[in-house]
Amino acid sequence: MSKNIFYIRTFGCQMNVHDSEQLASIMVDAGFEQTDDVSQAQVILVNTCSIRDKVAQKIVSQIGRYRQLKENNPYLVIGVGGCLAQHWGTSLFKKNVGIDLVFGTHALDKAPEMIRRIQRKGGAIVDTAFHKAIPSLNICTLPKNGNLQTFVTIMQGCDNFCSYCVVPYLRGREQSRPSADIIDEIRVLVTHGVKEVTLLGQNVNSYGKGLAEGLRFSDLISKIDAIDGLERIRFTTSHPKDLTDDLINCFGKLGKLCEYIHLPFQAGSNSILARMNRGYTREDYLAKVVSLREACPDIAISSDAIVGFPGETTMDFESTLEMMERIRFDNLFSFKYSEREGTTAVNLSEKVPEKEKDRRLSLLQEIQDRHTLEMNKAMIGRTFGVLVEGISKNSSRDMMGRTRTNKIVNFRGTENLHGKTVSSLITAAYLHSLRGELS
Ligand code: 5AD
Ligand code: SF4
Repeated sequence: MSKNIFYIRTFGCQMNVHDSEQLASIMVDAGFEQTDDVSQAQVILVNTCSIRDKVAQKIVSQIGRYRQLKENNPYLVIGVGGCLAQHWGTSLFKKNVGIDLVFGTHALDKAPEMIRRIQRKGGAIVDTAFHKAIPSLNICTLPKNGNLQTFVTIMQGCDNFCSYCVVPYLRGREQSRPSADIIDEIRVLVTHGVKEVTLLGQNVNSYGKGLAEGLRFSDLISKIDAIDGLERIRFTTSHPKDLTDDLINCFGKLGKLCEYIHLPFQAGSNSILARMNRGYTREDYLAKVVSLREACPDIAISSDAIVGFPGETTMDFESTLEMMERIRFDNLFSFKYSEREGTTAVNLSEKVPEKEKDRRLSLLQEIQDRHTLEMNKAMIGRTFGVLVEGISKNSSRDMMGRTRTNKIVNFRGTENLHGKTVSSLITAAYLHSLRGELS
């Protein structure tokens, strides 16, 4: 029998990247073989994202291009999974984009079986059912050759219902994974050379909800901190309303927890935060940043912001800029508000014109670039521990690694440093990376 070769294309967030890793591992376990060359594939799987409309449009055109491959390969199976698949469900077939399989966010584990059925009998299958326990939550994916870092899912889904966001509708209610499973997985990963884990979930701060263990997220991190051989712990993503003092106090106290947090603020104006249903005020957010910096003065903070939410006046927007000036984030991911079908924000009036959203977005990005560069430059002359990840993209004579604050450092060095934590004196700073030398 000829090999059953699959290709995966991923769109969207880190959660999706990790879902694709899990999907690949499920497929390989079921006897399929992965390729990086789409023209060799008998099965193309597209893992989709629905968070903003622009991404969704990109995905539809990409699926259209994959469909053309069916002209030379009529047995090619195209499967679409993830958030957009969950959202569109059966209607994806009606769009007639040449899809054979639609599998939702809770159906990853069934993909191989459904693909085989289509290969045997033809036809099309949709599975977008939600399950009480997400079947793929417990799948351990081993790192690819030499990878020092990996994601570990600790919870999935979201109960927050921010008024602009589709995630709670597409990924379902929050579900936490038992701590013993998480710890077992990390122990296995460490034996495969992993030194850094990023604990992953839509809102990791509310980890433990619904579990009988009575464990808080900070307790989970403390347990993980005790795992021998592990060097660094990160987590993403956090919700400011659930960032409790016990968690804040882990920074600077737990040796393996890196001095870095991604803490989306979304907007600086209280009336917009209320319309977004975020559950905190600007004052609450600022107070959390003060506590974080008190607990850990060197902590790097990155964030997400949305511009042009319905009703956002120029004064509201200025509050966002003012928050940025006060806090000075290390990095900011900023987005134009994108209306998503099914969310409550669809019903809000006073939509902001697209042109004005563009203007606000570029202003915000300009300010952030200035802040990022200034903060990176302030690192010049200081020495940091850098975990060496591999050869630099810029030059084969350089190695690259990351500081605990998640900054990329390139420096002259050799491959034998891979996996080691070296001491690096920062000599130059740019927007996206730092230059260092071994010290
Ligand atoms: N429009 C624009 N940005 C959005 N995000 C989530 N939903 C939307 C939307 N409808 C952004 C938020 C979130 C990040 C992952 O994506 O800033 O934190
Ligand atoms: Fe979406 Fe809000 Fe949940 Fe984040 S916390 S996934 S923005 S609903």
